[in-house]
Amino acid sequence: MEGTLMADIDVTVCEVGLRDGLQMLETFFPTQEKLAWIRAEAQAGVREIEVTSFVPPKLVPQFVDAQEVVEGALAIPGLKVMGLVPNLKGAERGITLGVHTLNFVMSVSRTHNLKNVRREREESVADFGRIADLVRAQPEGRRPRLLGGLSTALGCSFEGEIAQDDVVKYAVALVEAGADEIMVADTVGYATPASVKSVFKAVMAAVGPVPVSAHFHDTRGLGLANVTAALECGVRRFDASLAGLGGCQFAPGATGNIVMDDLCFLLDAMGMRTGVDLGRLVAVREIVARNLPATPLYGALARAGLPTKYKTAGER
Ligand code: COA
Ligand code: ZN
Repeated sequence: MEGTLMADIDVTVCEVGLRDGLQMLETFFPTQEKLAWIRAEAQAGVREIEVTSFVPPKLVPQFVDAQEVVEGALAIPGLKVMGLVPNLKGAERGITLGVHTLNFVMSVSRTHNLKNVRREREESVADFGRIADLVRAQPEGRRPRLLGGLSTALGCSFEGEIAQDDVVKYAVALVEAGADEIMVADTVGYATPASVKSVFKAVMAAVGPVPVSAHFHDTRGLGLANVTAALECGVRRFDASLAGLGGCQFAPGATGNIVMDDLCFLLDAMGMRTGVDLGRLVAVREIVARNLPATPLYGALARAGLPTKYKTAGER
């Protein structure tokens, strides 16, 4: 019954490999190759891409080319360009460059927030308020969409379990400060379909009409199972990274984000519309492979291919 109800709906997939996938790598992914990846994935039908992170280049040299990457991405018709921002300075940089979406990130885990952005959670909420004020002060047409991201919302490598009440509390705080959308993230791959249902239902009930999207890591192999649980809660926007690139410095052995290609196959197979051409998407992996020859790439669809005589959601 639920499957029938969910078919024929639009689901947005957002590529985050260029940010989440690259931020921990020592290897610099050449700027022109980042742009080749972005263009190819946009041509495959992915409409939203997180193209960079507005963090100090001294801290993460991978994003020293943020300006060039954003400018190149903004030239692609129809593509929504997103950048991560950890603080007000990052938001100022993103607004100056004209990104469509600012992805603000704080952690629900106090320890992780202190390690990641060197702030108490309340300081991050206050910073978010200043970012929201700045966003609202922009003229119409230059005003980016503001995502309030909650990292480690389903578990933390330092603290273990995270209290659901805390996730709800910070989601509400970000909405009250002016978030257009809440992004609930399982940064270290602790979530299960049961915890996803519980946390997403609670957050969605608390933030009312504000959309809630999901960011899962496949660290323990439950990534796509968690997607189906989130779909059943009404989530319609998911982050993923091509070939499952990514990882977290705080989770040894982490296998990165959920695999974009497998996510698109799952959604298509369930009859949902993503706008993505699966064959063209899988072909984009070649750009990642040629630039990161020593990095393992993941993905079941790329390994096994589409089922014989497979009909896409649009053809059925
Ligand atoms: N972009 C560029 N430069 C920035 C910046 C940003 N977003 N934020 C701060 N800076 C600069 C400041 O201007 C200052 O420069 P100066 O030394 O030349 O005066 C310097 O960095 C230190 O600024 P401060 O505000 O004290 O920052 P901090 O050292 O407390 O670091 C963060 C705070 C949030 C910038 C940093 O912890 C961070 O980037 N964390 C994110 C790490 C990450 O990428 N995690 C993975 C993704 S969630
Ligand atoms: Zn992540």
